[in-house]
Amino acid sequence: MTSALTNTTASTGVPPWEIEEEELAARVERIKRERLMLQRGETPDTRPGHHVRFEAGSDSYWRFYPPGRYYCRRCLDLDKIYQEQDGAVVVSPCPCVEKRRQEAMKKSLENKLKATGLRKKFRSRTFENFNVTELNRPAWDAAKTYAKNFAAHRKSGRSLFLVGDTGRGKTHLAAAIVREVVRQGYRASFVVTIELLSDIRATYQSERKTESQVIQPLKDVDLLVLDDISALDQYSDWEKGKIYELINMRYEAEKPILVTSNKMVGWIKDRLGKKAVDRLLEMCGDFVHVNGENYRERLAHQARCEDY
Ligand SMILES: Nc1ncnc2c1ncn2[C@@H]1O[C@H](COP(=O)(O)OP(=O)(O)OP(=O)(O)O)[C@@H](O)[C@H]1O
Ligand SMILES: [Mg+2]
Ligand SMILES: [Zn+2]
Repeated sequence: MTSALTNTTASTGVPPWEIEEEELAARVERIKRERLMLQRGETPDTRPGHHVRFEAGSDSYWRFYPPGRYYCRRCLDLDKIYQEQDGAVVVSPCPCVEKRRQEAMKKSLENKLKATGLRKKFRSRTFENFNVTELNRPAWDAAKTYAKNFAAHRKSGRSLFLVGDTGRGKTHLAAAIVREVVRQGYRASFVVTIELLSDIRATYQSERKTESQVIQPLKDVDLLVLDDISALDQYSDWEKGKIYELINMRYEAEKPILVTSNKMVGWIKDRLGKKAVDRLLEMCGDFVHVNGENYRERLAHQARCEDY
């Protein structure tokens, strides 16, 4: 008895798996041509409206486009571009796919940066938009190298202390480090020291938030930034104790800390005590000096000139 299968093979001389392949190729060609005609506007769009998925950081949402309305006018949301070349339909990826991917990544980085506690103003500060001069280059180099090698620092607990006069760009460099570290996939927290102290104090009168709810996340993150540790001229014993507790918490967990300060070791030793400064020296090694002009004055001057 001969089967239908054998019959086909016998009648055409082509084995069945090749026929299937041929049919498949023909079907792909048909689809390509249909899409080409759709993109050329030569056939009506019979799609019943379509949904486009947008990524926004870790969230994603769908938007509905009625028939004839497109998110990408180039590919009509087909993600590919169909063109005719020498009678064949050539397919290439639409740039909108890569653009969407990059936008999603940017958005996701922005959301992660927001979660670090970094203020909007400093979320735009990067190594690239830091104006490098002869005087501040050593600090820029040190900060950039620190960020680049963060994977090793995360393991060793190696920390960084940026010291310099007001307006020299310490917070700018700290923000740039946070950005890079977050981009590498680490978790960071950026806190302005005196604001953190008030937040902790506020928990004593609050029934909603406890002190450990404020402090625990600062222990968990891969990098903690204590910005402007020398903001006050005098710290109370309670404040001194809390700052020491934070430094010691990171020290014992062998996790990196990034500190910015206007004042040098002597001042910190006098105000925060020997135990705090010894730990900082052990974790940070030499302090990095941020020299140069007072950028805040320069920006204010520019703004005044623009007003006229
Ligand atoms: N080299 C630079 N290039 C571009 N912008 C800079 C530079 N240095 C500082 N700035 C900008 O000037 C402003 C002040 O800098 P920043 O706040 O980082 O100073 P700071 O050293 O932290 O001062 P403070 O000790 O008062 O906190 C910011 O807007 C910052 O982005
Ligand atoms: Mg600052
Ligand atoms: Zn497209």
